[in-house]
Amino acid sequence: MSIEIVLRGLGRHVPEKVLSNSDLETIVETSDEWITTRTGIKTRHVVSEGEYTSDLAVGAAEMALKNAGMDAEELTHIVVATFTPDAMVPSCACIVEEKLGIKGRAVYDIAAACSGFLYGLENARAILALHPEARVLVIGAETCTRRTNFDDRTTCVLFGDGAGAAIVTRDGDGPKIRDVKLSSDGSLSKLLTVKGGGSSSSYEKVGDPIREDYFIQMEGREIFKHAVRSMTTVCNQILADNDMTRDQLNVLIPHQPTGASSTPWAASSTCRPKRYFPMSSATATPLPQASP
Ligand SMILES: CC(C)(COP(=O)(O)OP(=O)(O)OC[C@H]1O[C@@H](n2cnc3c(N)ncnc32)[C@H](O)[C@@H]1OP(=O)(O)O)[C@@H](O)C(=O)NCCC(=O)NCCS
Repeated sequence: MSIEIVLRGLGRHVPEKVLSNSDLETIVETSDEWITTRTGIKTRHVVSEGEYTSDLAVGAAEMALKNAGMDAEELTHIVVATFTPDAMVPSCACIVEEKLGIKGRAVYDIAAACSGFLYGLENARAILALHPEARVLVIGAETCTRRTNFDDRTTCVLFGDGAGAAIVTRDGDGPKIRDVKLSSDGSLSKLLTVKGGGSSSSYEKVGDPIREDYFIQMEGREIFKHAVRSMTTVCNQILADNDMTRDQLNVLIPHQPTGASSTPWAASSTCRPKRYFPMSSATATPLPQASP
């Protein structure tokens, strides 16, 4: 059964510490000009010692609750999308539940990397189809810099830390989600990896000293190519499924870090989306909407 869901409140949280392109120039051989031209990124937020993914998640959750006019007690489910949880076990959602001062909720993490927040929304929709009274907290939170190799200029200029959250319900006031389309191509899974900590990498390989497997490894150019193609396909599909055309769109929020992958699709529209948000933190889709 397909149902509409309501975003009752949105929140965001980023760490205070900021790393600029000129800071990066002192760490790796790069330039503000190279980074800006290719990605549009000027600064990224970075966690400090003792600051974890769950802290960012809770910051975003508290803002979302405030914007929804709700108390944490009213939540029934917590879904956290992250590939950089505080630990393998317990789930980040479990830690968030404790930090929000509540107990007895259904809580779990989703591992869908950059697409995590969208998977979280679809999970919320499934929960609400089953339990119409549920109030689901969906969070996308990452501390990518904990898995970034600051000797590798091809990745360290891209990733930052942050969280976005939404309180999702079946009824009430707020923007509605009409449809979600998810799609994956497992044959391309080797294009972006963080192997360390998984069952394919033993302690001897990932342990001390830390090896490459611990970090994000990426074939950026290949990803870009496939991202442009699949974003075009999926955008066209979801519009067709909902009897809509591109010129009916007001806002496009690509979750892709540089935003450039969706530009060809947006640019080929005869009537372009009125607002367009490229993201610097891939899983934190609600960030721009929650911005003051
Ligand atoms: C990452 C990305 C911005 C790189 O841009 P690109 O134009 O493809 O750059 P390339 O990787 O082909 O590298 C071009 C050159 O710049 C160099 N280069 C790479 N990183 C650099 C940096 N930070 N500073 C300066 N030079 C750099 C390369 O070594 C290469 O040099 P060469 O031509 O002498 O070999 C782009 O590929 C991209 O946006 N990819 C998608 C990434 C993505 O979506 N990842 C998913 C994350 S959720």
